Amino acid sequence: MKLFDEYRQMTEQALIPMLSSLGDIPSPLWEAMSYSLQGGGKRIRPVLLLASCDMAGGNLSAALPFACALEMIHTYSLIHDDLPAMDNDDLRRGQPTNHKVFGENIAILAGDGLLNAAAELMAGSAVKMGDLRGCRAMEIIMRHAGVTGMIAGQTEDVTSEGQPPYEDTVRYIHERKTADLLEAAVEAGLALAGAQEKEMAAGREYALHLGMAFQMTDDLLDVTGNEDKLGKSVGKDQEQNKMTWVALRGIDGTREDAHREILMAKEALASLSWDTGFFADFAESLQERKQ
Ligand code: IPE
Ligand code: IPE
Ligand code: MG
Ligand code: MG
Ligand code: MG
Repeated sequence: MKLFDEYRQMTEQALIPMLSSLGDIPSPLWEAMSYSLQGGGKRIRPVLLLASCDMAGGNLSAALPFACALEMIHTYSLIHDDLPAMDNDDLRRGQPTNHKVFGENIAILAGDGLLNAAAELMAGSAVKMGDLRGCRAMEIIMRHAGVTGMIAGQTEDVTSEGQPPYEDTVRYIHERKTADLLEAAVEAGLALAGAQEKEMAAGREYALHLGMAFQMTDDLLDVTGNEDKLGKSVGKDQEQNKMTWVALRGIDGTREDAHREILMAKEALASLSWDTGFFADFAESLQERKQ
């Protein structure tokens, strides 16, 4: 296994070349897509995909296009999340949001472009691999990112604004808008390595709790965090009356619940026979997360 930063660097080095490998993308679409893809992101999802594949004995270079595709999908979700019709944000990854720089029309198309580029990359890799592992990984990623996953969560997020917080609804939002892409990362990484069903189920359980803890801390940081460190604006959730975990349980309650989710994430690793230290440490690190 490698370090978090090593998997992150592998991803960062490959992202732009993979995008340009698709062919001649006209400007300003290219500028807008590469602007949001470059720099500033933590790259958690591709790192988790590569680490999962590595842990299960898979081939990292075969997994790299899927890791980059997942980061492209995540980046598209952020561009669209920031649009005036969604969360209306000006700052993302320490820079002006995509629509502030390129206008709403190009920002929408850059999001569409990144989603499509991700599918193209994965399908191309799956064909090249010539076995079912690539197809399986693509199916996992598209499903978690899709209309029963991330997009479903985003839909509930925007339609619940202004309503009093209700636990089942906030849980639904967190599980889908955030945990789903982390589940996609771990499950797809394991699938690419040819892991068994019960190993994939344990990985999914880990990522579900990790995702819950991650979004709980995201909600917390919107209240307690620092704009410069986060690279995005703070105080927006309350301003927009978002149905967050903090609205439901307050600051201390959210900290307690995130702590519990981190413990559950670590417990989910127990049934796996590999060395899961990387994943336990990563879950633990969310406790101290500041960005
Ligand atoms: C932000 O995700 C959106 C959420 C699901 C909370 P990240 O916090 O992973 O954002 P980047 O990729 O590091 O910018
Ligand atoms: C966004 O959740 C989740 C997705 C983009 C899928 P948030 O709206 O809480 O994310 P931030 O706080 O803008 O990063
Ligand atoms: Mg949002
Ligand atoms: Mg937002
Ligand atoms: Mg947020």
